[in-house]
Amino acid sequence: MPVDLQQMMEAHELLRKFYHHLLVNTKDGQHALEYLLNRGFTMESIEKFQIGYSLKSWDFVFKFLTKRKFPADVMERAGLIIKREKDGNYFDRFRDRIMFPIFDRSGNTIAFSGRSLGDDEPKYLNSPETVIFNKSKTLYNFHLARPQIKKLQRAVLFEGFADVIAADRAGVGNGVGTMGTALTEEHVASLRRNVQSITICYDSDNAGIEAAYRAANLLMEAGCQIRVALMPDGYDPDDYINEFGEEKFRHDVIESSITFMAFKMLYLRRGKRLQNEGDRLLYIEEVLKEISQLDKAVERDHYLRQLANEFSLSLEALKEQQKQVYYTEK
Ligand code: GTP
Ligand code: MN
Ligand code: MN
Ligand code: MN
Ligand code: MN
Repeated sequence: MPVDLQQMMEAHELLRKFYHHLLVNTKDGQHALEYLLNRGFTMESIEKFQIGYSLKSWDFVFKFLTKRKFPADVMERAGLIIKREKDGNYFDRFRDRIMFPIFDRSGNTIAFSGRSLGDDEPKYLNSPETVIFNKSKTLYNFHLARPQIKKLQRAVLFEGFADVIAADRAGVGNGVGTMGTALTEEHVASLRRNVQSITICYDSDNAGIEAAYRAANLLMEAGCQIRVALMPDGYDPDDYINEFGEEKFRHDVIESSITFMAFKMLYLRRGKRLQNEGDRLLYIEEVLKEISQLDKAVERDHYLRQLANEFSLSLEALKEQQKQVYYTEK
């Protein structure tokens, strides 16, 4: 391994330990620890995920690493410090934030994400793309979740750090996070190498539902079996677990996940008023089109019947209509 790569890894390792120490053992980190405990994080998760705290200082990291002989240009390329244009001085990237270490598949710390304690923007500040951190390949918690994913033959996909961690506390240890970025082809490929069945559990808000729809399509194309886990409007997994408890999360969210087709039906309803005739006919047509694309005859039959029941239509009429939709599409 080139010398600077090794130094970058070592610097991340040292800082992970020190940030964690600051959070757990020091007065400087006390308000951050209280923030986490108030949000429902436990000491056990703080240990397991090695969560830390970065001091409210402009040069703590710079001095800490310089004292240990790490060259400034290497630390800069590692994304830990930033060079100020006007005077060439360095300052720390992460200040007064909750620090989530991001690990590679072997458990090496390769980046950080820092959450602000208040309403400071950005809410999460990530390490930049570096030679040791490729964002579009990295999934949060993959190193810890992988044995569980193999054992359960299923992975659960979350949006955020807090969601992965809360789910783990709730007994869902096969969860990984996309850290806010859209799921990439590379994420999909590395998931697919390990598992076929995936439950998408994104936030139940507009952005989350749109992202879930997009992720489900990407995963489908890679040959995955998809389920989608939903919560009441506006909740994310972390909120949900804190409000309704771990047991209810496992039972009513994860184990009650729905098929991709059922999710599509809900998705296509959004923004439509089904009591309105035009919207209703459009909806039926869109659903018919999706149904025609299902591989299994039994599934097609199942959803056709469901649609027929809901709108009091005859199965024959739906099948007739489906032929038309199908042939005009071609
Ligand atoms: P909490 O408020 O801590 O519970 O965060 P959240 O995970 O609920 O945040 P949200 O649903 O808004 O976003 C999901 C994920 O997107 C976060 O966990 C982050 O990884 C990422 N994210 C959110 N806000 C920002 C931001 O301002 N900058 C960046 N780079 N990422 C963000
Ligand atoms: Mn510890
Ligand atoms: Mn969100
Ligand atoms: Mn969220
Ligand atoms: Mn949240």
